[in-house]
Amino acid sequence: MLGRIRQDIATLPESGIVEVVNYGRGKEGLIPLWAGEGDKPTPDFISAAAKQSLDDGETFYTWQRGIPELRSALAAYHERLYGAGRSEENFYVTGSGMQAIMSAVQCVVGAGDEVLALTPAWPNIFGAVQVAGATTIAAPLQFGDNGWRVDLDALFAKRTARTRALFINSPGNPTGITLTRDQLVAIRDFARQYDLWIIADEVYGRFCFDQKVAPSFLEIMEPEEKLLVVNTFSKNWAMTGWRIGWVVAPQSLGDVMENLVQYNTSGVPVFSQRAAVVALEEGEEFLAKQVAEVRSVRDLVCGEMATWSRVTSAPPQGAFYLFFAVEGEKDSRSLALRLIDETNVGLAPGGAFGPGGEGCLRLCLAGSPTRFEQALERLQPALG
Ligand SMILES: Cc1ncc(COP(=O)(O)O)c(C=O)c1O
Repeated sequence: MLGRIRQDIATLPESGIVEVVNYGRGKEGLIPLWAGEGDKPTPDFISAAAKQSLDDGETFYTWQRGIPELRSALAAYHERLYGAGRSEENFYVTGSGMQAIMSAVQCVVGAGDEVLALTPAWPNIFGAVQVAGATTIAAPLQFGDNGWRVDLDALFAKRTARTRALFINSPGNPTGITLTRDQLVAIRDFARQYDLWIIADEVYGRFCFDQKVAPSFLEIMEPEEKLLVVNTFSKNWAMTGWRIGWVVAPQSLGDVMENLVQYNTSGVPVFSQRAAVVALEEGEEFLAKQVAEVRSVRDLVCGEMATWSRVTSAPPQGAFYLFFAVEGEKDSRSLALRLIDETNVGLAPGGAFGPGGEGCLRLCLAGSPTRFEQALERLQPALG
């Protein structure tokens, strides 16, 4: 029976993060720092818009590309942030950031193609590329005392005749690496030279500690170039459970993106989209508080871990994770499982993030500082 399904699909790996989550889920008193979300629900002013929409009877099929109000709000938001010169016709609403990635990959990558990516990377990227029948070619970042560092020449050297796209996630999950504008320009020039697509995952663009917003490909590429930017409402506005995101794509792909939405999900619920409009238009204060909280948690956790002799880490520049190495630990999967038993803290195993990640653990820095004080106390005897 299994022989009758596609080989690419039959061999999709289990997400190494999900395995650990499944092991520890429901354990009494466990502090879960394994996933990419904080501990606060979506703020009321956003949820209220969804409730109102349901009360108004907005329960029907809707626009495949997204309701016009949300597409305009997305255009205005990007204009505010980047002066990006995109109109609402460049925005396509998707059922999550993950689905934005899937649509972008489906759009430009097919069987036998290769996608270049910096690793360690969020495991779902490898999965999305494999579902499309393609292969991710990893270019590992370097890790030293000053944290994670990118070598773009090493990335570019991986190009072959089969390369179709570069997947660039900056600020990056799990390392926090945040590419400079010059680095984005170098990637853009390389992509132009070899006629490659750039799939830019900018979901952590607002979680950036030295600047207001991370540099974006939208600032340095024209609307009709080979660029697909994927994004989500999940992280900025504590909406991980809503499953709503977006793609910024050339207008000339409008019908293609619409078809992809049609055949993948047939659209995103109107009530979620109404909430998303409010998040974009009124959510800056909430977002600023979230970023400030992550920054103080980052300083707290990095300050403490700097005193732990077995741990090598450096404060991330962006996103909301600390991806640190543990001396003498070669098997991050069994370490993460052991930490659940011994400390009742859930961390993600570095090996799940692909080449360069083994021997490390990922700790999510989003949430209230008190939960991190407690987590550090528990982890210290095991890792300190
Ligand atoms: C790098 C990256 N991209 C995309 C996503 C997708 O976000 P979501 O599907 O929750 O909207 C995540 C979620 O953790 C992520 O870390």
